[in-house]
Amino acid sequence: MQSSMVITPLKHSADKKCNFGATITGLDLNVISDEDLMTLKDAIYKYQLVVIKGQHNLDPVKHWELITRLDPTAPQVHGHGTVKEFQKSGGMLAKRMVHGIPAAPNVRLIGKGYQGDDHYGIKGFTAFGASNDYHKYPPSAEAFAAGNTQFQRWHMDAPLYDREPPHFTALRAIKCPVGPEIQINWDDGSGLSMKCQPGQTAFVSNIQLYELLTDEEKMMADHSWVEYAPYPYMWIENCKGRPNGLGLETEGKEHTMEEMPEWDPEKVKTYPMVWMTPSGQKALQVHAICVRKLFLRATPTSEVKEIDDLVKIRELLHSWQERVIRPEYVLMGPVEEGDVQMWDNWSVFHSAVDYPDHYGPRTMHQANLGASDKPVGPVPIPVL
Ligand SMILES: [Fe+2]
Repeated sequence: MQSSMVITPLKHSADKKCNFGATITGLDLNVISDEDLMTLKDAIYKYQLVVIKGQHNLDPVKHWELITRLDPTAPQVHGHGTVKEFQKSGGMLAKRMVHGIPAAPNVRLIGKGYQGDDHYGIKGFTAFGASNDYHKYPPSAEAFAAGNTQFQRWHMDAPLYDREPPHFTALRAIKCPVGPEIQINWDDGSGLSMKCQPGQTAFVSNIQLYELLTDEEKMMADHSWVEYAPYPYMWIENCKGRPNGLGLETEGKEHTMEEMPEWDPEKVKTYPMVWMTPSGQKALQVHAICVRKLFLRATPTSEVKEIDDLVKIRELLHSWQERVIRPEYVLMGPVEEGDVQMWDNWSVFHSAVDYPDHYGPRTMHQANLGASDKPVGPVPIPVL
């Protein structure tokens, strides 16, 4: 059968510098052919974020099938493990109740507000989604009620312990809040802000971020690597986020390693700072909030500098990553009910954006799969 799939790159307004994103029409994910699946995969790599229109009737079983077909040799479980494992070790991520859809438990119901009397078998659930409560300095109740908000938490979807980061996440918008635009404030002294529709997810390209580094910084990033904490989200479960959603306030609230449950050093993740994309581009892909150690090399022949001071680690990473967290680089949606967003989770960061309750509930189905392979840097990490 001839494919009716049409891929249209997003046109960004003149004030934007983001260079990624596409919409896809003429595709029914319930019955996607192997050929269209490969075209879709290539499109996600090429455009980093695709919005697949009109998937109102996507069956959660098919949603999960889509994810597994894209990485068929990976362990067939959600990137964060089963709901039970996630609730045990998900730390700060698991503070909000997460439900799997009964017919497809690896498809997670996320969102905000009342999810209905019976949502695919989940009865009378009220979701407390990504909230500004995670921030040390959230907007005041009055400012928030008036539509002032913050980026919740810039991240990639990744367990960063045991399992590998998912290549792709598929996020279906089932119910979107409605109302006038809200305003995201950086609240970090920069005076930056941007308007957006409530309930949208924000994205930045870490390929563009890499390009914003100086030549010296690129050289260092290319030759350096990071070690993540064991059970990283548990490690930082008592920490608070910064107002621009990027990184954590460093207040000494991380658990000590003695306080952590028994962990297996073999499962601790060490990844290059820079991840190569299938087309040979470089993404600065560091999940700063979960980093416990940096191993820096200024040049290929420099001595390795190990840094375990969290203040220094976070200072360096923030000074790099904040360059792309600017209104001109941030891409929001445009997502309507029924759309499925899929992104190259190895080359972008995303963030939810909280909104006042009176805009109504938000209902999303999210699925991803810990990858069958691990990220590869421009040069191998040396054995020390
Ligand atoms: Fe996410």
